[in-house]
Amino acid sequence: MATMDDLIKGLNEDLAAELGTVIRYSYQASKSFGLTGVELREMFEEEIADELGHATFLLDVIVDLGGEPTTTPAGFAKPDGIKAMLELDVEMEKKDVENYMAHAQLADELGLVELKLKLEEMAADEAGHAREIRRILKGL
Ligand SMILES: [Fe+2]
Ligand SMILES: [Fe+2]
Repeated sequence: MATMDDLIKGLNEDLAAELGTVIRYSYQASKSFGLTGVELREMFEEEIADELGHATFLLDVIVDLGGEPTTTPAGFAKPDGIKAMLELDVEMEKKDVENYMAHAQLADELGLVELKLKLEEMAADEAGHAREIRRILKGL
């Protein structure tokens, strides 16, 4: 049976991932050169806004549930070149989808209906990010 501690721990892992993603996309935007880089920087800008929104939501929820939100971002690999960076991003977005779905399940078990739905919606956002990045990768 899921406990509130399990849920808060899971949400803090999600928060660390989101903070790490904001930094990863900011870093990758700076390392994106050429004409592709110009377009990528635009995409990263939009995704950074989404991820920051996710992080802000998680901060509020963790506090509301009586937890202490982490301020430490998750680390990430720094492969060379646009293609390798985007391949990493697709994998990390997919991992985020899995984590949100798992934590939505925990929220459901604890009877937290709004949180369950919001986490599923965030999983859908990440799946959308992964699809967008896959589309760019196909053209490289
Ligand atoms: Fe996110
Ligand atoms: Fe994302």
